[in-house]
Amino acid sequence: MELNLSAGFATKLLYFDQLDSTNEFLMKKASDDARQFPDMTVVSTSWQTAGRGRNERQWVSPKGSSLASSILIRKPASAAQWYGILLALAAVKSLRGQQLDAGLKWPNDVLVQERKLAGILGQSGGDYLVVGIGLNLSAVDIENSISLSELAVKTDYDLQLSSILENFSELRREFETNGVSAVLDDLRSLSHTLGKRIRVTTDQGQFEGVATDIDTQGRLVLDHGDKTVSAGDIVHLRGVID
Ligand code: BTN
Repeated sequence: MELNLSAGFATKLLYFDQLDSTNEFLMKKASDDARQFPDMTVVSTSWQTAGRGRNERQWVSPKGSSLASSILIRKPASAAQWYGILLALAAVKSLRGQQLDAGLKWPNDVLVQERKLAGILGQSGGDYLVVGIGLNLSAVDIENSISLSELAVKTDYDLQLSSILENFSELRREFETNGVSAVLDDLRSLSHTLGKRIRVTTDQGQFEGVATDIDTQGRLVLDHGDKTVSAGDIVHLRGVID
């Protein structure tokens, strides 16, 4: 596949017709073959056979139905979680530029019409990390998911990837120059989680509360500070402000 637009936002861009997992591939190459894989190497496929999701889940990307791409970040300025958030924000901005009312479900799911359009996975190596995005181009048989074709948006791979990479590079520059405060306002205003009653599942168990803020460490604040959540799965129960 020709990815001429996307190549302009990567130092090196590799596309495979089929790959087990773009994250796994890049995690391995980043340490085994460091000189060949510089910062902002991007690995992409439209058929991922062993995609990885958050919390050890699988990420299903059947042939041609999804955009699966991973970015290598060398010497990150901060923890993987922040680069994952930057990538999710980049996708949301890209989609909003295509007139979609996209938002974020904490920590980094991309939603449209309260259904999942894209997911993000960040993984850390020694002094590098890999952040990957899976974006549904056409319908996938997964509950509560949605795709670009169902939303009548162009599914052109290069167009979508290049727009995400362009937004990511810009957000990364701002983040590495000015820190968390450079992206916190966007993160809060584009959140579909804030203001909602949610159920959280963590290793310590389940609880419910109203999501009232995202703090400077990217944690979700419940009930004005009664609890903060740094990791786990959440379910949106209902809006309290709408
Ligand atoms: C999630 O929502 O659970 C995260 C999904 C992340 C999927 C992407 S697809 C590209 C990259 N390679 C992987 O194996 N996973 C991520």
